[in-house]
Amino acid sequence: MRKNIVAGNWKMNTTVPEGVELAKAVNEAVKNEQLKCDVILGVPFTHLTAVKQVIDINKVGLAAENCADHNSGAYTGEVSAPMVASTGANYVILGHSERRGYYNESNQMLKTKVDLALEAGLKVIFCCGESLEEREAGKVQDVIKQEISESLFHLSNEQWANIVIAYEPIWAIGTGKTATSDQAQEVHAFIRKLIAERFGDELASNTTILYGGSCKPSNAKELFAKPDIDGGLIGGASLKAQDFMGIVTAF
Ligand code: 13P
Repeated sequence: MRKNIVAGNWKMNTTVPEGVELAKAVNEAVKNEQLKCDVILGVPFTHLTAVKQVIDINKVGLAAENCADHNSGAYTGEVSAPMVASTGANYVILGHSERRGYYNESNQMLKTKVDLALEAGLKVIFCCGESLEEREAGKVQDVIKQEISESLFHLSNEQWANIVIAYEPIWAIGTGKTATSDQAQEVHAFIRKLIAERFGDELASNTTILYGGSCKPSNAKELFAKPDIDGGLIGGASLKAQDFMGIVTAF
């Protein structure tokens, strides 16, 4: 049976003290709950070690928002997958559209990052999604297929078990414009079909596929009720413990 997951992606927000307070509040809120989903916090590199100290890692997972495409060496300013793993983080978010768009991350580069992350023992939350232009041109499936197959379809079945997919239509990110639950379900079902064709029905059915893009307490329930939507990757609404918990408890 696949896991439901609600993961926060703080992006480039909060100072370390603010982030520690937020993490404490989430940890406190989930501590004594019997939740129907796993909870993960995706935080800036600078916050990983401090956040790790204030969460119960068995209750709250910890993700970096990126890692380098090299393991070590003369790459000033970069942070590698083994460095992320050494903080105690257990996940890394890769392929976010903001990384693809603003920092020119290609499918090929992401393939390398995925390999290094898995090698370092991290689980990968791999993002994919189309722009509004691509949607209007009827290219949603082509874009998704290319992003997923070029960065992930070289993996073995064993490696695939450490992959979580996040479908994040770019036009829905930070815009307040959520995909309708039917629009999201349609793409999620397509993604699961792609996975089944490559890795077989059982692995496809065990893969967690998250939705991201203006997900909030008021729309999470309807999204999560869809058969192929297994949770969310949450940006803005993950910055307030109460809003984030409103989404976590939507399951
Ligand atoms: P918002 O929830 O702010 O739209 O961001 C979604 C996102 O990009 C999560 O990775």
